[in-house]
Amino acid sequence: MFVKGIASLLPLSLVAVYASPVAVQHSWSASTRRVPVMLGVMSRCPDALLCETLFDNVIPRVADKINISLAYIATLNASDTEFGVSCMHGSEECAGNVQQLCAAKYTPMRTWWEFVMCQNYHGRNHIGTSDVALKCARTARIDWEGSGVGQCAGSDGSGTGSEGVQLLKDSIRLTESLGITTSCTVVINSEKVCIHDGTWKRCENGHEVKDFVDQIEAAYQKLNGQSIGSN
Ligand SMILES: *[C@@H]1O[C@H](CO)[C@@H](O)[C@H](O)[C@H]1NC(C)=O
Ligand SMILES: *[C@@H]1O[C@H](CO)[C@@H](O)[C@H](O)[C@H]1NC(C)=O
Repeated sequence: MFVKGIASLLPLSLVAVYASPVAVQHSWSASTRRVPVMLGVMSRCPDALLCETLFDNVIPRVADKINISLAYIATLNASDTEFGVSCMHGSEECAGNVQQLCAAKYTPMRTWWEFVMCQNYHGRNHIGTSDVALKCARTARIDWEGSGVGQCAGSDGSGTGSEGVQLLKDSIRLTESLGITTSCTVVINSEKVCIHDGTWKRCENGHEVKDFVDQIEAAYQKLNGQSIGSN
């Protein structure tokens, strides 16, 4: 969906003449590697909404350099008959997590991110309801039936579709394996760089939009610089 780095679109001759040697190395990369950016969240958590709102301003500045994902914090619970999962803010939160995971699986980043922003806009106590899910699908221009999202999350919008519930369980296992326990945790290139839990915590390199952009830019240079050096 997203074009490769602008630099890779430049004719090589142009790059060779005008770019510094370091930039040339990056530009010649056949395929640039995107920086994985992950937010550890719970869909109804105020801290998650805060992080997502902040990243809504980060993403446009680094959109072609990142691969963003949401990873969910909840507890596997075989006694829960609906999801097999317990979510801190109730079963509606589990449903919201499922809806978001299904949108992320079946639509491009811009689309599912808009879906999440729309859910947040409706207020956290409505996230996970089928009403808001179906409304936000229309807002984000998701064809609920045709795209695969509806089949994944439940065609009625309930967030209880079996594929989506499985995605939620997989996501919970992932966050557990990465030691992500707090919503919201910002992870850039596999490194936990910042937490918002009532207040900002352990954000060594800052927590403003610019700070996250800078950290992503640095990780991007590192990822793509190293990959060329080893060729
Ligand atoms: C983003 O990462 C996921 C897996 O984490 C992968 O399936 C997908 O292809 C990646 N997308 C891009 C554009 O790199
Ligand atoms: C597991 O689910 C059951 C039934 O919903 C609930 O009573 C119990 O508190 C849950 N356990 C945990 C650890 O969340």
